Amino acid sequence: MIQKNPTENPLERLDDWDDDVAQRYPSPGAKLDSDSQDFRDYSETTRDGVRDFYRLNHERQTVDFVKATREKYLPPRARSMGIWDAMDFLNELVDDSDPDIELPQIAHAIQTAEAIRADGHPDWFVLTGLIHDMGKVLCLFDEPQWAVTGDTFPVGCRYSEKIVYHEFFELNPDWKVEEFQTQAGIYDVGCGLDNVLMSWGHDEYLYQVVKDYIPVEAQYMIRFHSFYAGHREGDYDFLMNERDQEMFRWVRKFNRYDLYTKCDTEPDYDALMPFYRQLVDEFFPAKIWW
Ligand SMILES: [Fe+2]
Ligand SMILES: [Fe+2]
Repeated sequence: MIQKNPTENPLERLDDWDDDVAQRYPSPGAKLDSDSQDFRDYSETTRDGVRDFYRLNHERQTVDFVKATREKYLPPRARSMGIWDAMDFLNELVDDSDPDIELPQIAHAIQTAEAIRADGHPDWFVLTGLIHDMGKVLCLFDEPQWAVTGDTFPVGCRYSEKIVYHEFFELNPDWKVEEFQTQAGIYDVGCGLDNVLMSWGHDEYLYQVVKDYIPVEAQYMIRFHSFYAGHREGDYDFLMNERDQEMFRWVRKFNRYDLYTKCDTEPDYDALMPFYRQLVDEFFPAKIWW
């Protein structure tokens, strides 16, 4: 499926954002530092499409947009689909100009899960690797890229300067709303992330779809895996409570599998599918609401 309207969807491939993050954080534990070589390399190599994508994302993710989109999708009630139905659906998302060299979405899902399994982690952790990006089905519900992927961040309070392309927030109408631009904005310090509105994307959406079926650690991994200003930069501690802090250890543990396991070789699906079918059956009923 080719993404219509390049002005709204500047990424050539939806996964260009994911690849860009891996470039921004090139090694486990690396931080974005404006004086470092890494940062210079990063800003010089970022593709124009990725920059345009960040501009749209930072400009359009307003408090009003997040509230309206949550109303539209939550609680999930529009479609009843099994995990594999949704995975097949997601695999239709081939938005590269040369789909022959583009791996299907399931490749990253299996590569992430297999790396977690190889390190001997529990079943629920492996399952999380498999499903963590399935919220990207939002693209097939005609949401623009800037409302599906990208770094996530709290809306309704001051934007962390650690958020990549922070300068684009000046284009956001919320930039001029005084109430939204104090440090904690509309929130109480230490209120806990459950009380915070995050920018809308595949993380929050999938969390809402699967939360009743998976352990709390897995819920956090899915819900906050793109919240780099939080889990990588530690710049939103003032909104977090003790439970968030504890759970973010798991989010960080997950992040290295998400970022550093991509490769061009396609997994041997035939050999692996029996294991993954059984794993999904252990946690999910035949159909769930999306
Ligand atoms: Fe993701
Ligand atoms: Fe991912």
